[in-house]
Amino acid sequence: MHLGAAWYPEHWPETRWPEDVRLMREAGCTVCRIAEFAWSTLESTEGHYAFDWLERAIELLHANGMKVVLGTPTAAPPAWLTHHHPDTLAIEPNGRPAQHGNRCHVNPSSSTFLKYARRVVEQMAKRYGRDTRIMGWQIDNEYNRVDYSDDTRRKFQSFLKERYGTLDALNAPWSTAYWSQTYTDWNEIPLPIGPHNPGLMLAFRHFVTRTWHDFQKMQCDAIRQVAAPEQWITHNFMGWFDAFDHYVICEDLDFASWDWYIGTGHHDYTRTGAAHDLTRGFKRKNFWLMETQPGAVNWAGINTTLNRGEARCMAWHAAAHGADAVLYWQWRPAHGGQEQLHGSLLGADGQPRPFYSEVQQLGRDFAAASAALEGTSPRNEVALLHSYDARWSLNWQRHHKDFDPVRHLELYYQPLAARNVGVDVISATAPLDGYKLVIAPALVVLPDATVAHLTAFVEQGGTLVLTVRCGQKDAHNALFPTLQPGPLRALAGVETEEFYALESPVPLTASWGATTEGESRLWAERLRPLAETTETLAVWGASNGWLDGHPAVTRHPVGTEGGQVITVGAVLDDTLQNALTGWLLERAQVEPVWRDAPAGVEVGRRIGPDGRSVLMFLNHTRQEVTLTLPAGGGERRDLLTGEAFTAEFSLSGYGVRVFSG
Ligand code: GLA
Repeated sequence: MHLGAAWYPEHWPETRWPEDVRLMREAGCTVCRIAEFAWSTLESTEGHYAFDWLERAIELLHANGMKVVLGTPTAAPPAWLTHHHPDTLAIEPNGRPAQHGNRCHVNPSSSTFLKYARRVVEQMAKRYGRDTRIMGWQIDNEYNRVDYSDDTRRKFQSFLKERYGTLDALNAPWSTAYWSQTYTDWNEIPLPIGPHNPGLMLAFRHFVTRTWHDFQKMQCDAIRQVAAPEQWITHNFMGWFDAFDHYVICEDLDFASWDWYIGTGHHDYTRTGAAHDLTRGFKRKNFWLMETQPGAVNWAGINTTLNRGEARCMAWHAAAHGADAVLYWQWRPAHGGQEQLHGSLLGADGQPRPFYSEVQQLGRDFAAASAALEGTSPRNEVALLHSYDARWSLNWQRHHKDFDPVRHLELYYQPLAARNVGVDVISATAPLDGYKLVIAPALVVLPDATVAHLTAFVEQGGTLVLTVRCGQKDAHNALFPTLQPGPLRALAGVETEEFYALESPVPLTASWGATTEGESRLWAERLRPLAETTETLAVWGASNGWLDGHPAVTRHPVGTEGGQVITVGAVLDDTLQNALTGWLLERAQVEPVWRDAPAGVEVGRRIGPDGRSVLMFLNHTRQEVTLTLPAGGGERRDLLTGEAFTAEFSLSGYGVRVFSG
């Protein structure tokens, strides 16, 4: 487990650096991230590189026992570049160029920009690619820009030509006869600004993905050409941010990282765990928390400060979900920078802020538990499927303004998290071996390959849950010529005869668990069983007349291995959802990491390849709680305090205990 912060030595006189680094060391930092916005200091004018200062900063960190993560500075191109090459500026959807100076102002596919970006990255790679003081690289920072220039439009048209080959092959799946959109020349195809043809919009997101992929690959290649194999490459993503398909971008990275902020309010572990699990799912391996909130941010509606102890618990929560490092943003705010009031470890006076002591505690924690966590990761039997194509498609046509696909996924995630059932959030195309229960939340776009592997999963005995809005569209974002769930109808033994966006909840009666009466919010689907073996698990009560008495939830047994598909045509209220979760876990024989933990207590587990495991008990509440170890399990030692327990043990408010065994 690494602990660290983002430090910007270029903001400060060099005489100050030893004090900064001493304070980092005393906080227990083992890693420091530098240089990710330092282009104007590294190359003050075109071709005049200055690495001496960076060299001295790296050496100082090294001399104090810290490893370095080197950021490539391409998210903050310098003023001279913009001035001499205004064509590098991104064009906004309104046709105006982005403003220089707030970083990320460039078009990531501008050939001029790419030329300069490649040069500075090559310079860095040449100097540091074989430097053992450098652990690894972060490419750029939080990719986010989408460009709308004429140049990009031409590139998009070439992308479409490469993908579709002929205009007929594009016009047909996009139904371009609709509103006379039929294209007779590739040059006629526009960039979608605002709502547009569903096929065009989806293809444009794939193009944006390709743009960032190529931008990143250029940098990865420049580094890997010279770098030692031990140096890894990552990028700091933004959780659920969806401008591009993260699974594609992650193909060229060694592992994924992300930047996690709460903003206003406090931590809800039953939701944020899903974002950690999403990031772990990008590469299906542990990740880094490259940035997180040291108390407060500066950009939220109300920049509330985390309670004392809350951030430590959050850091352990990240670790429980597979983070191998936690880095705070940032070490100290530049007096004149745009983010003056953001949380930091040191204040404007260069002295530790109150929050610093919590980082020191974490430094002691990680030092004590690091060896036990080495090589371990979460291993789960439940997967939630996630697809950018589906999310884009739903967000473009929500049909109910409050139908947020991420929120919908979280509705399935939350009761699992509250029961301490570990979950993988993975691409809908990822292999499903080893899972007992797979949930497909609103998987509206369903490419053939996904149909094939979901079918294989169920035929081999898996339990598949299809929620509302599954299987309505093909890989071009066009409606299937069948009803939902399209090509999965036979497997599900059911189809959606009609769907209803709801102004107010509608009642249904369910036959699982103890609770039978409940309601559906936002959405309701009238299901029609297609097989005699399809069992109705819930029925709509009286509402709009169309739904009344029709199936709302069904189960269809498949094959001889115990496979089954549960189709949930409702967005259940919390009580029914919770009861359904319990029923599904029992049916699919999934065991939680820990049974009967008090409410608000999370128990995470990481397992090593040798079977060795580490249990993390995290009290996300402010009240002290008591837990009991299973009888006859022997003694457990808290790696953080050295205390040994055989029966009961306590967790203080926001308390953490880590047991190996
Ligand atoms: C992002 C950026 C950082 C900083 C923080 C502030 O995560 O990567 O450079 O701006 O936000 O919260």
